[in-house]
Amino acid sequence: MTDLKTIILAAGKGTRMKSAVPKVLHPVCGKPMIEYVLDVAKAAGSKELIVVLGHMITAVREQLPPEVVTIEQKKLLGTADAVKTTSSHLKSFKGDILILCGDTPLLTKETVRALVKKHRGSKAVCTFLTAVVHDPQGYGRVIRDMDGKAVAIREDKDAVGFERQIAEINSGVYCINASALFAALDKVRQNKAKKEFYLTDIIEIFTQDGQTVETVATENFKEALGVNSRIDLAQSQEIIRRRILDRLMLAGVTIVDPASTHIDADVKIGRDTVVRPFSVIENNVRIGSGCLIGPFARIRPGSRIGDDVEVGNFTEVSRTKIGRATLMKHFGFLGDATVGANANIGAGTVTANYDGVEKHPTKIGDGAFIGSDAILVAPVKVGKKAVIGAASVVVRSDIPDGATAVGTPARVTKKARSQ
Ligand code: UD1
Ligand code: CA
Repeated sequence: MTDLKTIILAAGKGTRMKSAVPKVLHPVCGKPMIEYVLDVAKAAGSKELIVVLGHMITAVREQLPPEVVTIEQKKLLGTADAVKTTSSHLKSFKGDILILCGDTPLLTKETVRALVKKHRGSKAVCTFLTAVVHDPQGYGRVIRDMDGKAVAIREDKDAVGFERQIAEINSGVYCINASALFAALDKVRQNKAKKEFYLTDIIEIFTQDGQTVETVATENFKEALGVNSRIDLAQSQEIIRRRILDRLMLAGVTIVDPASTHIDADVKIGRDTVVRPFSVIENNVRIGSGCLIGPFARIRPGSRIGDDVEVGNFTEVSRTKIGRATLMKHFGFLGDATVGANANIGAGTVTANYDGVEKHPTKIGDGAFIGSDAILVAPVKVGKKAVIGAASVVVRSDIPDGATAVGTPARVTKKARSQ
């Protein structure tokens, strides 16, 4: 099979975001926008991922996985120029090149795979993705001849007369034979109005050269949505949020109120867990099966929740491991804690994990009982089946297995009964 490599265009300034953060690093459901595009490129079978960067190159490069090749576009002379910057890197490559934009997180792997498949099954030198939209303004329009063949893409600024009415747009996703691509790029002339070199001009160049161009139309026009402003960002986040919830629900998780539930992209939840309204579950969290989460729970990155655990209302759990069947039913905060199985974390329990300089761990053993309103000033260790009295403040201590500790600062008042 022909080799596939991907070029992701991400050198643009993203001016309309009005941000000090490069556009493609803005998170969508906890993950930088560009990572969605990288995932799609990988899923399409790409052998190499090349990202063209310009604006704030160092900041973006630092966030990319090490296997990604980055190439700098020194001056932002347009999308054709951006692709051309990769020509010396790809000069001996004879396969197909997938071109994507860094600001289209909604594009799915199924669609890109369909595009690559169609390209390979045809004689076309170039196959690109189109979409029919309600409002084509701002997008390049697909110009077709009498036989319905795509012969050109007319950019919004250059579209005149009937062209402005065309609802079929270029979504900016292309699969192109490498040699044909770079030969065509040499023929692209600078656009007079915008002083840019348009990648989209290659469609007309191929057609005039007698080469075949094919298209694939997305069924879901939203996949083509490019993020240009914070409004677009919120819109794509809403669509991706819903995709995440749907995936979890189809895998056996109950989401009581999808409208008020926020779960990031990299979260795994077991079957028969119920997530109640207004809960936020952030990236890199794993939750077992049969749990009850929320309402109003916030589970932050690095947390691991075992099976049959309850993390109830007004709770925050951060970088914390909770063992099987432990209950934390009411408001409270656990940070940097490791809690065993079958423990009870009373209402209002707080781990004071931060001393203003460093974070410290808290360990709570299996079957421990933490009374309401206890404060555990870390580092703290509460032994197995130990009891902490209500409203006690345990200050940097080690409470032995089976002991009872009460007061402020908490002192052991009862040792474990000998067996
Ligand atoms: C582009 C297409 C348009 C299509 C739309 C789909 C062109 C000329 N037009 O328009 O037909 O409908 O995408 O979203 O290609 N970039 C660089 N270097 C540059 C300029 C841009 O890397 O010099 C990158 C941007 O960072 C961005 C991508 O290329 O990721 C697309 O550029 P953008 O300016 O957003 O193009 P559009 O006007 O959206
Ligand atoms: Ca764009």
